[in-house]
Formats: sequence, C-alpha cells, structure tokens
Amino acid sequence: MSVHKEIKRITTHVLQEMKAKGEKISMLTAYDFSLAKIVDEAGMDIILVGDSASNVMAGHETTLPITLDQMIYHASSVIRAIKRSLVVVDLPFGAYQGDSKEALRSAIRIMKESEAHSVKLEGGREVLESVTRILSAGIPVMGHLGLTPQSIYKFGTYTVRAKETEEANRLIEDAKILEEAGIFALILEKVPAKLAEKVAKELTIPVIGIGAGGGVDGQVLVMHDMLGITQEFSPRFLRRYHNLYQEMLGAFTTYIDDVKTGDFPNEKEQY
Ligand code: KIV
Repeated sequence: MSVHKEIKRITTHVLQEMKAKGEKISMLTAYDFSLAKIVDEAGMDIILVGDSASNVMAGHETTLPITLDQMIYHASSVIRAIKRSLVVVDLPFGAYQGDSKEALRSAIRIMKESEAHSVKLEGGREVLESVTRILSAGIPVMGHLGLTPQSIYKFGTYTVRAKETEEANRLIEDAKILEEAGIFALILEKVPAKLAEKVAKELTIPVIGIGAGGGVDGQVLVMHDMLGITQEFSPRFLRRYHNLYQEMLGAFTTYIDDVKTGDFPNEKEQY
C-alpha cells in the first residue's frame, strides 16, 4: 500500500519515506481557511502558504511587498483548516536575508503565531547561516533554488534558470550544501528537467519541482494558476485543471441579472 493512503498526518519523516518508496509528493499553495480545507480533504501531502499570496491575494506585481505579519495571517487561516497536510510557510522578503538572528526571530514568529509546521526560504550558500540557525531551533526548513522570485530585480526576468553549465553546477553545489545543513526538502523552480532529475537523484531528501520536469520527487503549483483564476499567467509548465475565472464570471453576472430582474429571491427563498 502507498504511504499516501496509510498516513493520517504528513510529517517530514513521511515525506522522506515517500521518496524512499518512489511515491510522488503532491504540493499546492493555499492562503485561506475555506480553500485550504478542500485541499487538505483532497489528500494533498504539502500545503504551501507561499509568498505568491503577494500576487494572487493582494494583487502586487512581485512577491516582495508581502510582510511577515501578512504571511502569519494567511498561515494561521490555513492551519485552522488542516487535518492531514504538512504546512510550509514562506519566509517573506526581508525577513531572513543578511541577518541570521533576524531569520530565526521571523521563523519563530511564524511557528508560534500561526502554529505552522515548517518554513521555506529562497537561496543557497548565501542564506546558509540563516538556514542553520533556524534548524538549530528545531524548525524544519524547506529550501528553494532555481528561479527565486524574491530576487527578480537581480535577474530581471522570469525565464528558465541554470541552463548554462556554470549556473547548473552552482545550483547542484547549493542543493548539496543545503541538504548537508539539514533541510528536509528542496523546491526547484523553472530549471531544465535533466538538471532537476540529476539533483533529485543525488540528494537523499525530496526534491519538489515547479517547471522542473517529471524526474523529481513531487510537484507544486500555485492554486490560483491551476484553477484558472489567474488568466494572464501561462507558462509552459502550467496545467490548468479548471477555468474558474470564466465560471465565476458567469455566476456573478447571472446573480446580477437575477437581482436586477427581481428573479432572486423567489417565493421559496424568503421567510
Ligand atoms: O510562493 C510560492 O507560491 C512558491 C511556489 C511557486 C513554489 O514559492
């Protein structure tokens, strides 16, 4: 029987077991109670309270503006809905770079105030001190390499990363450094499938991809993208499982018509 079916609560240890058994790990973002409840009930292994909330919840162009307080608000809403999934919360831009004591304070606030299960941060060797300090407090850390949206102004573009040998080798080194430090899993975003597969083979921890091909240990998507709520974002790696934007638009316009024409409420819909 698969680990997925047996397990009542996903832990970092269970994820490790899934990798060992070759069972793929499912991961999706969520930012609020109502939708997180559905995602958890569906049997998602990991729920990511991503700083993509900055884009899809708050309408910012990048992930940079979202604050630690706002991440804690989203995370605590998600946590109240969860029975089974492991919840990972993004440390937002400015909450961990450059000062490992600040990083630990930020991670502790997330764990204490939202009761989440783990944190994620972007970067390799340059954030090693922060990763190590957070881990030393017993907080599980997920890494994130490849396209790291918090550094968008450094790269200037959201195109595929690590296509050249030098950058690919650096990414492999960073992945190993982070694994050695003790992270429990690693996200690889928008990198060539062959490179991602190589990293997944060389690491013992689970490697979860977004735009990183099928040779990794699991997949993650942003909920609003896979449901078709966001329309303008259409990278090659994105599979849309619904066209919720159009469906919701239809529901809202029908409701407006019903109100305007007096069709709603009808006899049965009143006291
Ligand atoms: O914030 C987020 O949603 C993420 C995923 C794209 C992995 O970091």
